[in-house]
Amino acid sequence: MNKILILLAAATCALAGSQTQDFAARLSDYHDESGHGDRMMLCSEMPGERKLQVTFFSLNNAQEFLTGANNANLKEITPVEFQETKKRKNCSMNVDDMAINYGLKRSWTRLNGDMSQTVNVPNVPFLRIGHAYCDTDHDATECIPSLVSAGEGYIKEGKSVSEVFYQGVDISSYQKVIAETPALKRELPELEQSTFSILNELNYPNKYTLNSDSDSYGKIMLMDDQSELMWWKSSSSDAICSQFPGTTGDLMFPGKITEQSVLHFYSEDTCTTATLKFANKDTSFGFNALKFVLYPLESQGHTSSCYCTDGNCLPQGAINVKNCQRGLPYIMSYPHFYDGDNSYRQNLVGMSPDEAKHQSYFIIEPVTGMIIESSQKYQVNVDVKPFAHPDQGLVGGFKDSIVPLYWFNKQFKLDETHIKAIKAMLENPSTGTTSPTTVKPVVGDDSETLAEVQQKLRDIWTQIHVMSVVVFTFIVLAVLVLAGFSIVQFRESKKRRNAPVLPAYAAYETKQ
Ligand SMILES: *[C@@H]1O[C@H](CO)[C@@H](O)[C@H](O)[C@H]1NC(C)=O
Repeated sequence: MNKILILLAAATCALAGSQTQDFAARLSDYHDESGHGDRMMLCSEMPGERKLQVTFFSLNNAQEFLTGANNANLKEITPVEFQETKKRKNCSMNVDDMAINYGLKRSWTRLNGDMSQTVNVPNVPFLRIGHAYCDTDHDATECIPSLVSAGEGYIKEGKSVSEVFYQGVDISSYQKVIAETPALKRELPELEQSTFSILNELNYPNKYTLNSDSDSYGKIMLMDDQSELMWWKSSSSDAICSQFPGTTGDLMFPGKITEQSVLHFYSEDTCTTATLKFANKDTSFGFNALKFVLYPLESQGHTSSCYCTDGNCLPQGAINVKNCQRGLPYIMSYPHFYDGDNSYRQNLVGMSPDEAKHQSYFIIEPVTGMIIESSQKYQVNVDVKPFAHPDQGLVGGFKDSIVPLYWFNKQFKLDETHIKAIKAMLENPSTGTTSPTTVKPVVGDDSETLAEVQQKLRDIWTQIHVMSVVVFTFIVLAVLVLAGFSIVQFRESKKRRNAPVLPAYAAYETKQ
């Protein structure tokens, strides 16, 4: 295990490099005797390149679909691409269990693709407000007609990808309705603003606590301060449904991976455990790497009905994430329902699953567990159901449908510097703590933040040391005082025992 940690340390610490120290120096700096250098790796900068490629579907026959005359006919538009940045902030270590806490900051910048392409898509905010309030006992006559007269409906037509996905569509009419309807106030915070964008309203965890022990390195302990996945916890579900499955899957898996390994990580896109199985070897990086692919998505889980929502379990290939997405009516699948039940495609026109295009994979260096490359592909579908009240000035003869909105490819590629560092470590593992390589470290734009983190962690350690010394001194003093006291007592009692008559005290002594 220690060797793995050294390798891991070596592999990861290049990312924390600065211009002044070389890789080997960094390594010995991190891998000190206390072992807390390894723990600190969980605080370091996220290496590699992350991209998000998004392919929207446009509903070609919105009116026919709405009247129930025809199945939804979908057409992919040209993909658009974003750069994704993930940064760990506010890193700290727990004094009691040495777990690492950090906040994860995500941001996206547009790279390429035509954002002005227009699409017809299910109207997510409208479906949200409708099913939350217009379906139930709340007075439906209050909310739907005013939204319909403001031009809202089940489908948004002719909106640009930029508006729908990134910048946000105007939802000021919702603000007005919510303000005028007491039952809605503060219930739908994502709709009480002037715009709604899919990307900004996706509910991703912000705060993590990870185990830093060598045998569970990187395993999630808390996410947003919760120790369980609350959205899969119900009285009937098995305890395993709501447990964290392993790592975050965005940098590494615990090391020593073989072709027989079955890997688990938390997928923040499906809000569930994701499971990977070995597919083939990959030597394209100059060392032996293993390619793993995702198992089919299962709403039924392996042991029980884990991922069912409101008592409904979907057929294989999709997961209802409504409860994890604060009520937004999303259903996740693989692109084009790849690896999913045929029934999903039967009521749709335009789906053509293809392993080469739609399968998710991870290429992993098995000794360190480092992810060299990954591609996670999912499709976001909308659960489109007509509202219970038909006479709202809405067209709505259609049947309950799962309508694809877009699919995405989240790509991760470890940078050359790290790949070289791993390679060098693997070729020369015995010299791990001396001077294994001449690889130049990454120049991190966040090296100051990292330095601060290191300083904080050092401070915590100093505090622990100081505390230990204080506690130790206290114990020694206490023992000395007690010993002194006992000696005095012993002498006293001896004196008393030798004293001629003291009946009460003698009686007390015999009781003992
Ligand atoms: C870091 O902490 C500050 C202050 O508590 C907070 O405002 C900020 O959101 C945190 N950043 C992250 C990414 O969690």
